[in-house]
Amino acid sequence: MSKVIHTKNLWKVFPNGVEALKDVNVEVYKGEVVGLMGPSGSGKSTLLHIVAGLEKPTKGEVYLMGHDITRMGEDELAYLRQKYVAFIFQFYYLLEDFSVLENLTLIGELAGIKNPKDKAMEILEYLRLTNRLKHRPSQLSGGEQQRVAIGRALMLEPSILLADEPTGNLDIAEGRRIFELFLRLREERGVSLLVATHNEELKVYFDRIYRLRDGKLDV
Ligand SMILES: Nc1ncnc2c1ncn2[C@@H]1O[C@H](COP(=O)(O)OP(=O)(O)OP(=O)(O)O)[C@@H](O)[C@H]1O
Ligand SMILES: [Mg+2]
Repeated sequence: MSKVIHTKNLWKVFPNGVEALKDVNVEVYKGEVVGLMGPSGSGKSTLLHIVAGLEKPTKGEVYLMGHDITRMGEDELAYLRQKYVAFIFQFYYLLEDFSVLENLTLIGELAGIKNPKDKAMEILEYLRLTNRLKHRPSQLSGGEQQRVAIGRALMLEPSILLADEPTGNLDIAEGRRIFELFLRLREERGVSLLVATHNEELKVYFDRIYRLRDGKLDV
């Protein structure tokens, strides 16, 4: 089986001296659903951002589909990210001036997805948002915004899905539905997932779990 994500001796030290990641080695194989757990401030978001190429590590290597993204130019990295990766952000970053439906269709168009509107409607139906299509993000509840952020990532039909507390604002039943959708993506399209969560009830969905504590992985 091929490794889709691999970090080697990864360190992140922020300018203020916080050591957010200390010598972190993780691996995710194709089709795996891997959990990233640990207390608040333990480095989960930092690790996901670095794996996505959104932030640079202080030291160490990050391989995405076998390519070391820490040695890549911006263009090459952007290409790789666009081709393979989607990110569900902890703080959503939805487009405020656009409706729910547009938040999905616009990204689908940018990514060159066929029939972006049909695809968006299919995703929004699963996410139970068809009664909110014309709402702006600011007119939605926190959990609804979170589901739009999930929908937007799914529009990209990624091979690798990185999710940062994707169910943090959802009740447990809705959280389970999201994880069931993740498992379906794995079954149907071999998608690999690395998912940060606090929620111990969702552990059952993971093939494996990495636990971070103060920037270090438990062994
Ligand atoms: N830009 C930054 N500059 C300085 N320190 C930072 C920065 N970003 C994060 N940190 C620190 O790095 C540590 C790890 O933060 P991170 O956001 O990765 O934690 P987390 O595990 O995702 O937490 P949470 O569960 O609350 O989302 C924290 O102590 C945080 O204060
Ligand atoms: Mg976080």
